[in-house]
Amino acid sequence: MMAHKLLSDVVVLISGSGSNLQSIIDNADNIGIKIQSVVSNKADAFGLERAKKAGIATQFIDHTQFATREAFDQALIQHINTLNPKLVILAGFMRILSADFINAFAGKILNIHPALLPKFKGLNTHQRAIDAHEEFAGATVHFVTNELDSGAIILQKSVAIESNDTAKSLAAKVLEQEHILYPIAIKKVLQK
Ligand code: GRF
Repeated sequence: MMAHKLLSDVVVLISGSGSNLQSIIDNADNIGIKIQSVVSNKADAFGLERAKKAGIATQFIDHTQFATREAFDQALIQHINTLNPKLVILAGFMRILSADFINAFAGKILNIHPALLPKFKGLNTHQRAIDAHEEFAGATVHFVTNELDSGAIILQKSVAIESNDTAKSLAAKVLEQEHILYPIAIKKVLQK
């Protein structure tokens, strides 16, 4: 009889293309996870198609339908609470989460950020790295806390910035590394 591996339940939150989600889907067995739900705040997020194609349940929660950030976050909390996942994985989720959300899943929320934190928190990271004449750009997987892009770092991967790099070329190179980094970082957290 085949031994069944115990899989950890996770929920993934997205807002867009979902290329990191795709990498997590493709590596789910190796990471040892089952993606219970992919949640998007954008109806047209391509990541929702990726999830459906992989047979994963999807949930669209439209933030524009809520009067406040807190009300939207309550809807998110309610959905995720029905699933009771081990981790909540942010993969290009472009909403800042309120303290209520972060407290509800304290120590269980991961994010990937396209910079070598603590440098370049926030948006437009690649152009800022080029403008600052950095030698390296990169990506960071970290725990999410109440302070933006500031939680404990789990793993990082750097990419050399070449003299002819643009924000676009650099973003593509970093994204490629993100796809390798995120599955490894998730596995690392689950093995602790
Ligand atoms: C990635 O660059 C990630 O670092 C950032 O948002 C982007 C998401 O890309 N948080 P994708 O939706 O996974 O393709």
